[in-house]
Amino acid sequence: MDAAVPGAHLSEVYPIVPFEPVRGEGVWLEDAAGRRVLDLYAGHAVAALGYAHPRLVEAVASQARELFFQSNAAALRVRDEAAQMLADFAPAPLERVFFVNSGAEATENALRIALRLTGRSTVVAVEHAFHGRTAAAGAVTWPPRKSWYGFPRTPMDVTFVARNDIDALRAAIDDRTAAVILEPVQGLAGAWPLSAEFCRAAREACDATDALLILDEVQTGIGRLGAPFGADLLGVGPDLLTVAKGLAGGLPAGAVLMRRDIASELGPGALGTTFGGGPVTSAAITAVIDTIRRDGLLERVRAVAAQIHASCRVGPVRSVHGAGFLLGLVTGPRAAAVRDALLERNILTGTSTDPHVLRLLPPLILDDEHAARLAAALGDLDHATF
Ligand SMILES: Cc1ncc(COP(=O)(O)O)c(C=O)c1O
Repeated sequence: MDAAVPGAHLSEVYPIVPFEPVRGEGVWLEDAAGRRVLDLYAGHAVAALGYAHPRLVEAVASQARELFFQSNAAALRVRDEAAQMLADFAPAPLERVFFVNSGAEATENALRIALRLTGRSTVVAVEHAFHGRTAAAGAVTWPPRKSWYGFPRTPMDVTFVARNDIDALRAAIDDRTAAVILEPVQGLAGAWPLSAEFCRAAREACDATDALLILDEVQTGIGRLGAPFGADLLGVGPDLLTVAKGLAGGLPAGAVLMRRDIASELGPGALGTTFGGGPVTSAAITAVIDTIRRDGLLERVRAVAAQIHASCRVGPVRSVHGAGFLLGLVTGPRAAAVRDALLERNILTGTSTDPHVLRLLPPLILDDEHAARLAAALGDLDHATF
C-alpha cells in the first residue's frame, strides 16, 4: 500500500484541478512548493471569510478547547447564540432555525416539512435547478431523470417549469402543490438569476393555494449576493429558507429557517440530526455572521462585484451576469479551457453545467486589487491560448 500516491484510496468521482493546496491565507492558497494561487472559487462557495481568518480560527479553537461536541439532546448556549445570530440576519418572519450539516440535508428537511404540513404530494421546481444529491433533493434537481442519482423513483411528484416563465409557473401551482422551491440565482446552472417578478408570482400563487415557498439559499445566502440573503434582494419572503456552504466558513453546516408557526406545528421528534448545531460549528457560524457585519463585507461584495462587471468583459469573456459574488462569465471558448488557462496564471475559478459559463464564487473578503488581477489575466488571454 502506497499512502504517498495522491488520491490512491479515494473513490474516483471527482475531476481534480492540477493544484494541491497545503495552506491558505486571506484569498490566497499555497502549495507545498510555495506556488500562490488567487482563489476565486472558495471551495464551491464555502470559504466565505477566506483562509486563516483570525476571528474564525480563534472562535473554533477556543470552543474546541471548552466543549468539542454535544448533540441536540443537550441545551447549549453557543448553539442558541448561533441560531439567534442567524435568525437576526435572515428576513423577518424566519425566526426559527433547524441546524443540519449540508445543503442537501437542508433541502431534504425543508421538503419534508412542506409535504408533512400540507399533506400534499407535488413540488414545483425550476428547470436547471440544483438542490442536492439525496433522494428528495435529487428529485427537484434538473434534469429530472438523470438527477435521481440511481434511485428507482422519486419520493414525491415534481413539476418543472422553465426559468422565469411566469405563465407556466402559475399553471403548475394548484391545490395539490405542497411547495415551490427556487434558487434566487441558479448557482451550478451558471449563476443565472431568477427574476423578481417570477419569484413574486411564486409567492402569490403559493398564498392563493396554501402551498409553501422554499428559497434554496445554500449558495446565495450568508452575504454572497451582497445582501444577507437573496430574499432581501427579491423582496420575497419565503416560508422556509435553506442555507449551508459559507454558513460556518468551512465546517460542514446547514440550516432550515422557518416561521415560528411552522416550527410550532412540527413538534418533538418531527426532525432530527446527530451533528447539526454542534458547539464548534455553532461558534463558527456566530463568528462568520459577526465578521460579515462588523467588517462591512456586504458593502465590499457589492463594490467589488460592480468592478468585476465593469472590467472583466475582456479577452475570452463576452458578458458578465449574476449577483454579488455569484458571477457567471460567458466565454467564447469553453469555460473549462478558460479556467485552465487562468489557473496557469495562478487564478482559481470554477465551471458550471453551462459549458460556456465560468463561475466565480470568491471569498467575501476579495478586494479591488484582486479583481484587477483577474481583469488583467483575462485581458492577457488572447485567441492563441485556446
Ligand atoms: C443551491 C444548492 N442547493 C443545494 C446544494 C447541495 O449542497 P451540499 O453539497 O452541501 O449537499 C448545493 C450545492 O452545490 C447548491 O448549490
